[in-house]
Amino acid sequence: MNESLMSEQVQLDALIATVVADPHLHARWLNTFSFMEYIGFRKIVKSQQAEHMTAQILAHAMEEGRHALGLKKLAIKLAGPAFDSYEPETMLCSEAAEAYIQTLDRTCEAQFASAPEAERGRLTYLYVTWLIEKRALDVYNTYKALLPQQEIVAKLEGLLLEEGRHLADVEASMRSKDPDFTERAALLLPREAALYETFLGELADALRSCSVPA
Ligand SMILES: [Fe+2]
Ligand SMILES: [Fe+2]
Repeated sequence: MNESLMSEQVQLDALIATVVADPHLHARWLNTFSFMEYIGFRKIVKSQQAEHMTAQILAHAMEEGRHALGLKKLAIKLAGPAFDSYEPETMLCSEAAEAYIQTLDRTCEAQFASAPEAERGRLTYLYVTWLIEKRALDVYNTYKALLPQQEIVAKLEGLLLEEGRHLADVEASMRSKDPDFTERAALLLPREAALYETFLGELADALRSCSVPA
């Protein structure tokens, strides 16, 4: 692991340790990830033209919707009905969360600017999903390892299995549909890493401002 990856891991560990020790912060963390799952769900549905919607993509969208719901239910259970929304105050850094996904989406879409619309939508969906799933597996696994609440660990295990399958499915499609997969992946991975670093910084800032005594 290089130095910046290591310091990112340390930062994420510290951030999660703070979050899981406080039910209110923990609910905001869960609702932030619920929101990201929800954006993913919405994006998958919109990225496909109906004529090309397959059972696999539909199942993927439904599972992201279910992840959004499951994480939100955990937030509500931890900290009450106030979390039954995506109001900014029920999350940690909703703007940064949305910016991470939308910027990643635009970055990937730009790769396929000259492709016909349906093809562009399909390939963008594959790359965005691939990059996000890799990151989600990393973050959710770290979170799971630091979680004292066994009930949440059990829920995360189901979610992680599905994320792992999404990753394998999209990677198989990318290898078969994009002859430039290797080069494109090498180009996009550091771009995603930079966006994630910004997101993590905003998450840390949001937590710092939450713990400043009023
Ligand atoms: Fe998900
Ligand atoms: Fe997924």
